[in-house]
Amino acid sequence: MGKSVIVINGPNLNLLGTREPEIYGAVTLADIEALCAGHGNKLGIEIAFSQSNQEGDLVDAIQNAAGSHDGIILNAAAYTHTSIALMDAIKASGLPTIEVHLSNVFAREPFRHHSYISPAAAGVICGFGAKGYVLAIDALADIFEK
Ligand code: DQA
Repeated sequence: MGKSVIVINGPNLNLLGTREPEIYGAVTLADIEALCAGHGNKLGIEIAFSQSNQEGDLVDAIQNAAGSHDGIILNAAAYTHTSIALMDAIKASGLPTIEVHLSNVFAREPFRHHSYISPAAAGVICGFGAKGYVLAIDALADIFEK
């Protein structure tokens, strides 16, 4: 049966394109979604999308993914560094989750070096801009084949 992945983006990622372009580039969230949809299409993986600036909405999106999707790609943005609730939601979902960041968080401020998401994630991709989401789809495709 065809697999389904949900790409969940957190706070301020709706502003991509105008937000700190020196860090995040000119790519918009719509561009990222189109890139993911195209790549998913090539692999025969259905890709759904969700974005919220609210932590609880992100928890709901992760909870709802269990039962309706086979994997999660999560850029929790600033909540990466603060949210035990998101970590718990990923663990509870039981779904393979790839943590993505556009920027190389380890080359930035020290408070971005710690992630509450990583201990619950199958893997982490950061520093490759929008391409990171495509790499995350490939990573999930590999996991689905195992
Ligand atoms: C980010 C990195 C986070 O530290 C930051 O708070 C973001 C975006 C990234 O994609 O590089 O909002 O997750």
